[in-house]
Amino acid sequence: MNKPENLAHSLSERAKFRQMKEGTKEDWAIIGAEYREFAKDLPDRVLTHLKLLDGDFGGFPVDRLEHSLQTATRAHRDGRGEQYVVMALLHDIGDTLGSYNHPEVAAAIIKPFVTEEIHWICQNHGAFQGYYYFHHLGMDKDLREKFRDSPHFDACAEFCEKYDQSAFDPDYESESLEFFEPMVRRVMEKPLASMYKAAIEE
Ligand SMILES: [Fe+2]
Ligand SMILES: [Fe+2]
Repeated sequence: MNKPENLAHSLSERAKFRQMKEGTKEDWAIIGAEYREFAKDLPDRVLTHLKLLDGDFGGFPVDRLEHSLQTATRAHRDGRGEQYVVMALLHDIGDTLGSYNHPEVAAAIIKPFVTEEIHWICQNHGAFQGYYYFHHLGMDKDLREKFRDSPHFDACAEFCEKYDQSAFDPDYESESLEFFEPMVRRVMEKPLASMYKAAIEE
């Protein structure tokens, strides 16, 4: 039975192609509508994933969720803006899937929503954080020096000094994840930049 034109696409409607090169405008109208709905739930997926760090100590004095909350709380109490605080909250979210490159995972997630500098801080915080412990593992604590010429060097060093390396105190009273939830939703509400931006705003 033919469906009336302009009928809102139901959730069960699917594109008809078997290879992408066979796709039609109608197919992509279906996919586009689904995508816009799916993208809206990104903050929920991110917050759900962040909770995986709960109880994950990895030998540290606090678990990775508390470390994340503490880093974000310290940044917030120091007067940082929402993009920065959300970056602080999410900077280690990649520990689960990016065991060998966790800063890049977090940086990729926040990239569409933050300034270049905040993204840079997130992307490179691993090397800068090493300033505080690499020497205990037979590594070069000054690895961060390879970034010395970057305009974001000082900002990243400051993030690690003030908020990240200092966020392992079991006695610190961090704000809850619920406290930061509205900030995550606001920051991730709309991408500042994305190769899919035109489709999102259709
Ligand atoms: Fe980290
Ligand atoms: Fe960290």
